Amino acid sequence: MAESIVPPEIADRQSETPLRPAALGNPLAEALEHTPVDPTTMVIFGATGDLAHRKLLPAVYNLAHEGALPERFNLIGFAFEDYDDDSFRTLMRQAVEEHSRRAPKPEVLEALLHRTRYVSGKFDETADFQTLANLLGELDLYADEPLHHMFYLATSPTFFGTVIRQLGEVGLEDKADTSVRVVIEKPIGQDLDSARALNREVLEVLDEDQVYRIDHYLGKETVQNILAFRFANSMFEPIWNSNYIDHVQITAAEDLGIGTRAGYYDSAGALRDLVQNHMLQLLALLCMEPPNALTANKVRDEKAKVLRAMPAPLFSEVSDMAVRGQYTSGTIGSDTVPGYLEESDVPSDSKTETYAALRFEISNWRWAGVPFYLRTGKRLARKVTEIAVQLKPVPHLAFQIHGEPPPPNELVFTIQPNEGVSISLGAKIPGAKTRIRPVNMQFQYGTSFSSASPEAYERLILDVMRGDATLFTRVDEVEALWELVDPVLAFWAADPARPAQYAAGSSGPAEADSLMHGDAKWRPL
Ligand code: BG6
Repeated sequence: MAESIVPPEIADRQSETPLRPAALGNPLAEALEHTPVDPTTMVIFGATGDLAHRKLLPAVYNLAHEGALPERFNLIGFAFEDYDDDSFRTLMRQAVEEHSRRAPKPEVLEALLHRTRYVSGKFDETADFQTLANLLGELDLYADEPLHHMFYLATSPTFFGTVIRQLGEVGLEDKADTSVRVVIEKPIGQDLDSARALNREVLEVLDEDQVYRIDHYLGKETVQNILAFRFANSMFEPIWNSNYIDHVQITAAEDLGIGTRAGYYDSAGALRDLVQNHMLQLLALLCMEPPNALTANKVRDEKAKVLRAMPAPLFSEVSDMAVRGQYTSGTIGSDTVPGYLEESDVPSDSKTETYAALRFEISNWRWAGVPFYLRTGKRLARKVTEIAVQLKPVPHLAFQIHGEPPPPNELVFTIQPNEGVSISLGAKIPGAKTRIRPVNMQFQYGTSFSSASPEAYERLILDVMRGDATLFTRVDEVEALWELVDPVLAFWAADPARPAQYAAGSSGPAEADSLMHGDAKWRPL
């Protein structure tokens, strides 16, 4: 057996310092809702990267803060950089201090850091995976029970296949008595063919039920609330079809630019970055049939059915259903910001879209004839993610209206910011004349619930440790999603025209208006 790499003083602390709040002297946290979580060692590949720093390490800390981690929990960072346990802990402390949604409590953070280890290794070096396997074995030994293993691939997508093959090489793909769960970040491929190739590579080593393909939008409270609103209230379901719904608009607008991610973004673009995953997932949740239970495969079966009922556009149809745009310089708030082509590391002739607007249909009994408009973009007027469901106008106005007829009802799920749901209704303005004006009925998370919603990554990491894949994308969904966007990607790649231009800080290119049918208009940003 390899020499122990768990120093005795840490090993002692590991077995003595459970992360449950009771032992940390935080009786208030004891009252928090806890779901059973499997004792787990979580390994983050790419632990020194941006995603780990901004999202994953702070999320793990916040779970510890809540007392939501299992009592037996270890974290191992694996990356190429030459850190040791202590210097990685320093890095982790910084990540938590900079990005945790709650001010870290020293005793919680220390306890977590004591459970944190680092392996410096290359993703294609079997010996480094053997070192990892030895450490995992020893942590099992010190825990006095076999721990579940969670491998989180926060690496560049080019390494997904390599890391999973290496896990197989050293026998970490499977474990007697406990589970091995592997989390893969997006993007899963660059198009349908590469996604299929990656899925094949992954499933040569792992079973599908071990794979958790993360889409962080599904971890957002407001996104899960779409299901609650639809299926826990009887008032929506009767109108949830083409008889009553005129059209749906899904918007994911960002005021930020591409930051330092030009390398990734210029080869991805808005369609791959947000539409292929987050936005079409929102559409699938909004439109799926009610599952008879909210279990992983039943929910994912229903989502997959919706995606498969959406006709992929023909090459010749793309120019009529999709518009791409690219931002030029402009003003956001009081700042003047550069255009996309002036961002550092972006090729000056890049045709990558920073904005995409599309019109989709769902060819099934419930939705036939209802247009679904999706738009997303960087450097738009403001950050907002919302789903607006516009109902049809009333069939007949029985009373005399002075002025404009009342606008149709609209149900808006605001995913972020100001999370909530609002319904617009026509109401009579007080007075002798019958004048109707839209008023809003609103539910806002901030005012209805006193506790802040957890970050999406907190919820999703916890779900992996519970073995619940409901909020993760199954292999058939990934492929159905690519089938929908592939023709658009192919058309844009072949199209010599440049993307439509829009000024930073605006609502996007005017060309997107051409997608709208009838009297529909994009909601103002
Ligand atoms: C990521 C994209 O998946 O989602 C980013 O790669 C985007 O480009 C981000 O900014 C948006 O996420 P959120 O949670 O801030 O809406």
